[in-house]
Amino acid sequence: CGIVGYIGPREAYPIIIEGLKRLEYRGYDSAGIALFDGKDLKVSKTKGKVVDLEAQVEREITTTGNVGIGHTRWATHGVPNDVNSHPHVSNSGNLVIIHNGIIENYESLKLELISRGYTFKSDTDTEVLVNLIEEIQKQDDLKLGKAVQLALNQVIGAYAIAVFDKNKPEEIVVARLGSPLAIGIGDNEEEFFIASDASPFLEYTKNAVYLEDEELAIIRFHKGIKIRKIKDDSLVETYVQELQLNLEQIEKGGYDHFMLKEIHEQPKAITDTYRGRLLRNEAIIKMAGVEDNMKKFLNANRIIIVACGTSWHAGLVAEYIFEDLARIPVEVEYASEFRYRNPVINENDVVIAISQSGETADTLAAIKLAKSRGAFVFGVCNVVGSSIARESDAGAYTHAGPEIGVASTKAFTTQITVLTLIALRLARAKGTISSSDFRTHLLELELIPKKVEKALEADDNIKAISEIYKDAKNFLYLGRGYNFPVALEGALKLKEISYIHAEGYPAAEMKHGPIALIDENMPIAVIATKKGHYEKVVSNIQEIKSRKGKIIGIVTEGDTQVRGLADHVIEVPETLESLSPLLTTIPLQLLSYHIAVMLDKNVDQPRNLAKSVTVE
Ligand code: G6P
Repeated sequence: CGIVGYIGPREAYPIIIEGLKRLEYRGYDSAGIALFDGKDLKVSKTKGKVVDLEAQVEREITTTGNVGIGHTRWATHGVPNDVNSHPHVSNSGNLVIIHNGIIENYESLKLELISRGYTFKSDTDTEVLVNLIEEIQKQDDLKLGKAVQLALNQVIGAYAIAVFDKNKPEEIVVARLGSPLAIGIGDNEEEFFIASDASPFLEYTKNAVYLEDEELAIIRFHKGIKIRKIKDDSLVETYVQELQLNLEQIEKGGYDHFMLKEIHEQPKAITDTYRGRLLRNEAIIKMAGVEDNMKKFLNANRIIIVACGTSWHAGLVAEYIFEDLARIPVEVEYASEFRYRNPVINENDVVIAISQSGETADTLAAIKLAKSRGAFVFGVCNVVGSSIARESDAGAYTHAGPEIGVASTKAFTTQITVLTLIALRLARAKGTISSSDFRTHLLELELIPKKVEKALEADDNIKAISEIYKDAKNFLYLGRGYNFPVALEGALKLKEISYIHAEGYPAAEMKHGPIALIDENMPIAVIATKKGHYEKVVSNIQEIKSRKGKIIGIVTEGDTQVRGLADHVIEVPETLESLSPLLTTIPLQLLSYHIAVMLDKNVDQPRNLAKSVTVE
């Protein structure tokens, strides 16, 4: 979910609505807003997107007022409908809240409140929280900040919240545990912006405070911010950061969709990732986070990679790279499984956590667990200053720039780039790669951005293929070795944005199951590049062909053998096998993109998904 708030001399409504649009990547099942117009609290909420909310607000309520909060939701408790949307108002009608996260013990709190006469309109945990705050505030006639603090001490779960009281509209109280929350500070501390990340207030201020877990801030018009610890009420010093992000980076820049823009940004993003780290002339790789902890890496019994979604696929590619080049055993785990299965892990293990957002709840919990068992945790994140980046012992950013499209593209290729750099650095330190091989890798990696550009030129061809298969009900993706995870990622991209069922498989495993699905209606994307297991994949292609499956071959430029067998081929430039995922991924991203556009699906905001999943 995404939250936005404003308090200051301007009209709050336009700031909040525009802010919510920027945060829609965090969820878009429903949206809502609460404004204080100087006299009354005006609340409007609806199922659907921020544009639906905008239309409703402009129909239903006044849009004037200098204080307000807004929310865009990814449903956890309660189906996405109007009633369950945020903000939620307390029984007295005085308090209003927006919440990102989950209150796990809400049922017992709710029963207690019901016994005291409270009634509930929604099924949400959030409505319980706002009434709990009200009950505490009422009992002892407490100030809002104190009541919020006491209420949060009764809560088990995760949250970023913003609350205000219509009787004290010069103040907003916010708090965080496990879900991010930033406060933008306007000139002379005359106005304040609240948001899940800084994007809603970038055009107003570059000064921001990021709340830490278990902190609460009381924000007062004209009076500034006071931050306290939720547990013991102690005062925390306010640390104001200067933001580096600019507005242009989060706008579409002429592309129809963020996803397409981000696909095309990959040459630059990959260059940004290795810039300053890959020093080819000196034949070295410089990465402070690795350098400083070289002993930990070299003495590690194994590396455990934890991640979710696309980042997990990048982890699978890394398994091949690390084992192949640096000869270190690697295990790749879904963070959500790892954290709940009492894993055998200790101080001799190195854990690498991969996360674009740096906020994924399961990944964050997995690294906390690993740290508690003594393991060294290295984070690979895209969002600077994110929770996972801060929780890790060391790390390396991907520097891909903001990724807005829900289907991850440039985050994936830049994650692979960072992980390749780390593997090469360790291989050099361990002596598992010869100096000439090392140089070849550096040289080839430096050529990748140009080759990605070349791969992008296949766009028209891919569009034509998309047209033919856009109505397929199922898709298979096959690859071997380094390109097996690419097959998984290709299938995930198609599922995510076109809602076509797709499965990725290791090409050789096809004969143990998926082959039964193959007939003349089944399109099958097969990654069959020259280096790697080419001949073996060609045999797999023969097996498909004899069952009349439709073959889309992803092949090396100039290939003739697969071209002779496949129904279609898409060429990518030649490179080393270990770097090939950076190229073979590109046509699969474009294929899913074009199919989704042709099916008229919402590419950047596919149904039911969210970009940043801060609940488990
Ligand atoms: C969500 C997104 C995916 C992403 C996954 C992991 O499911 O929709 O695109 O791969 O979370 O996110 P992370 O930010 O940890 O990489």
